Amino acid sequence: MIVIYPGSFDPVTYGHLDIIERCSKKFDQVIVSILNNPTKKTLFSVDERIKLLKEVVKDLKNVEIDTFSGLLVNYAKTRGISTVIRGLRAVTDFEYELQMALMNRELDNELETIFLMSSSQYTFLSSSMVKEVAGFDGDISGLVPDYVEKAINYKLKGD
Ligand code: PNS
Repeated sequence: MIVIYPGSFDPVTYGHLDIIERCSKKFDQVIVSILNNPTKKTLFSVDERIKLLKEVVKDLKNVEIDTFSGLLVNYAKTRGISTVIRGLRAVTDFEYELQMALMNRELDNELETIFLMSSSQYTFLSSSMVKEVAGFDGDISGLVPDYVEKAINYKLKGD
């Protein structure tokens, strides 16, 4: 089975990587796809996010990095894939994820969303928290891979 793991990945964290690694073991192929949304302000450009993701999944041979614009259902159809993976961290994610999964099913009845529970050590982790902590000089070394940590520090402080 081939699955799509869509998201903003601004930037990829250990929480995302945990989901990607577990998908890579369970499914034949995993397409990690970054939403290209020009109206949303992001720290990293789509090209930078692609580069970061490619680096951190380079040892996972069945993982591909791609981007998409517009509706996820249309992208999935174009790629001929009918299964989407989303990670669930806590009940706070549930409401939004349920809404999104049901909307996607409304738009395309063939599209199925599978939820993977985050590993417990990452339930508190999000890209926005990482950016906030880094912005105040906090230690993010346990939250993102080294390569991503360097990219964040360079982006925020130029070092
Ligand atoms: O990492 P994120 O920001 O939680 O990812 C959200 C994402 C990119 C999966 C979601 O916003 C999305 O699929 N956007 C594309 C537009 C779309 O299809 N919207 C309808 C479903 S809500």
